[in-house]
Amino acid sequence: MKTVAILISGQGSNMASLVRASRDERWPARIAAVIANRAQAPGLDVARELDVPVDVVPHAAHGGRDAFDAALAARLEALGADLVVLAGFMRILTEGFVRRFAGRLVNIHPSLLPAFPGLDTHARALAAGVRVHGATVHLVTPTLDHGPILAQAAVPVLDGDDAATLAARVLAAEHRIFPMAVRWLLEDRVRVVGERAEIDGVPACDRLLWEGAR
Ligand code: GAR
Repeated sequence: MKTVAILISGQGSNMASLVRASRDERWPARIAAVIANRAQAPGLDVARELDVPVDVVPHAAHGGRDAFDAALAARLEALGADLVVLAGFMRILTEGFVRRFAGRLVNIHPSLLPAFPGLDTHARALAAGVRVHGATVHLVTPTLDHGPILAQAAVPVLDGDDAATLAARVLAAEHRIFPMAVRWLLEDRVRVVGERAEIDGVPACDRLLWEGAR
């Protein structure tokens, strides 16, 4: 059994999809904790309802990124986390933290990376006029929203979309690809070759999901 920690900042819908999949599909893993960087994160209540232990490492209580990341790392090491899953975790992690957890740190980002790293991805996609948008699951490297891609889901941008309708379409796709990719990691099916990931020896880019209009 591998030990998993899920880090959140917000509503925790991706976290909930991971917890449910881990139980429904009997993953070889134990979700040991959901950790938020703010006590008000609504996802903490969702985790409690799912009977997952919760913890808060408040970034505001630590003076600066290094101190926060050190406290977070200590908490994760105490749990014995084999995999750290960033599920809507809205803090930039220091290079030291990322290197310490290299290969066992995975993130979901609401765009088809390398397009639209950073914040406000849906509004920026609409402003740019793209017709295809989506989400990316990737291993974390010190460069923000960058690293070997494990899975992507593409969704159409529809006439009349605003940032909220587009975000909802992307989020539904996130709930499909994130559990899939996390499970690959837990089953040791991922290998990084150069800058790219392979799943069972097949380049991850051969496994992109294309979502029709929903
Ligand atoms: C998700 O759309 C996730 O991709 C995004 O935050 C949302 C969290 O939703 N993450 C980032 O923007 C990270 N840079 P959730 O709390 O319902 O899972």
